[in-house]
Parts: sequence; structure tokens; C-alpha cells
Amino acid sequence: MMKGAHCPTAAAFALLALATFHLVSAFDPSPLQDFCVALNTTNTDISAVFVNGRFCKDPKMVTPEDFFFSGLRMRGNTSNPLGSIVTQANVQQIAGLNTLGVSLARIDYALGGLNPPHIHPRATEVLMVMEGTLYVGFVTSNDNGNRLFSKVLYKGDVFVFPFAQIHFQLNIGKVNAIAISSFSSQFPGVTTIANAVFGSNPSINPDVLTTAFQVDKNVVQYLQNQFWYDNN
Ligand SMILES: *[C@@H]1O[C@H](CO)[C@@H](O)[C@H](O)[C@H]1NC(C)=O
Ligand SMILES: *[C@@H]1O[C@H](CO)[C@@H](O)[C@H](O)[C@H]1NC(C)=O
Repeated sequence: MMKGAHCPTAAAFALLALATFHLVSAFDPSPLQDFCVALNTTNTDISAVFVNGRFCKDPKMVTPEDFFFSGLRMRGNTSNPLGSIVTQANVQQIAGLNTLGVSLARIDYALGGLNPPHIHPRATEVLMVMEGTLYVGFVTSNDNGNRLFSKVLYKGDVFVFPFAQIHFQLNIGKVNAIAISSFSSQFPGVTTIANAVFGSNPSINPDVLTTAFQVDKNVVQYLQNQFWYDNN
């Protein structure tokens, strides 16, 4: 066995297996059937069983409604501290997206509205501006020196936020803005940086944040006492 570990073929195989694992783990798994419309398990015994994704509805019971959602027609209410609101169209709204590895969201921005720095733990995002002007960007991991890649986008422009990078959009135009985003997951998830760091439940010990952010403890306590609005 030990000999095998030193064999170049075994090493190459292990590397290939590792690379394949990363490829597979970076996106939702490929479907093994035409569709697997998510079963609404709210009222059944299996609601206590947790799987990666959702159980499939009997294909004979599937209807066009399972693949349909009209919730992105209307403007979202941006009257909140961020001046932006995300309307999601993922597997929670469209059962037919289960196992298909894609979803959408509509983002509305008031004048000066911000979709604050956040990550999607399970997806790459491609955003297209439908109305208005946005200043957008993402910051790479420490591996790439926390580089900021930013751009001003006009109506019709597209920008990519790679998997799990911290990113944001700010409305810098003179009108309300609208964007549509697509995701490489049926359920991309959102972690808003400020909410997670300063608004965690329960709170992170202030000593941790005081040293991490190199500020006075009062600053940390001030931030921890704010209300961190979730625009999703
Ligand atoms: C799931 O079932 C519950 C209870 O019957 C119902 O209230 C809910 O609207 C259903 N959800 C969907 C997405 O159909
Ligand atoms: C928008 O949200 C605000 C704050 O919750 C609320 O006061 C207002 O009535 C809402 N507007 C509409 C049109 O729903």
C-alpha cells in the first residue's frame, strides 16, 4: 500500500480525483432524469428527513405551474435602510428548478440604493442591468491579494461575480435601477458580510472583532448594536 502511494500513476490518479471532486463540488450535481420537481413536504412524514436538495414529485403529477413564476414582474419595495431589495426565483419559489443547478433573482435599487457586500456560498452569478446605472465589483480572496474588480454598468451590460467572491452593486444613476441575476445553483444562498460579522446570533465576542478590525471596542459595540437589514 505504501509503495502505491509513491507510484507516479497513483499520485496522478489521486490528483485527478481531487480535481474532479472540486469540479463537481463547485456546482449543483447534474440531473439523472428529465426533471425532479421538488415535492412539497410541508405536511407529510418525510418533512423530518433531510436530503441534499428536495425529494421528487411523481412525474405524472407535474404541471406547467411547477416550472412557472410570475414574481419577478413587479418592482420590489426598496423602502428599507439599504435602498435595495432582492426578489428570488430559486427552488423555493419554482419547485421545477430542483436538481437543475440554475436560478434567477430580480434586484431593485432606489436612488443611491446598495446591494451590500455579500457572497453566494453555492453559486457563480451573472448579472444584467435592465434599467439604470450600477457601480459593481467583487474582491478576490487573500490568495489573489484581495484585488477589487469593479466596473460601471449601463442598461444591457453584464458582469460576472465568480463563485463565493465578496461582491456588491450600488445605484449611481439618476433613476431607480433594475438588474436580473442568474446563478449556477438551484439555491445559491446569501451571506451578507456586515450581517454575519456584526449581526450574528448570538453575537461574536467583541474581543474577536476588536482585534480582527483593529478598532476600539466601542466601535465594535456600536456596530453590534445596529440593526442589520437583510434585503433578500
Ligand atoms: C406546500 O404545502 C403547504 C401546506 O399544504 C402550503 O401552505 C404551501 O403553500 C405549499 N407550498 C408550495 C410552494 O406549494
Ligand atoms: C414598502 O415598505 C415600507 C416599509 O416596510 C412600507 O411602509 C410601505 O408601505 C411599503 N410600500 C408598499 C407600496 O408596499
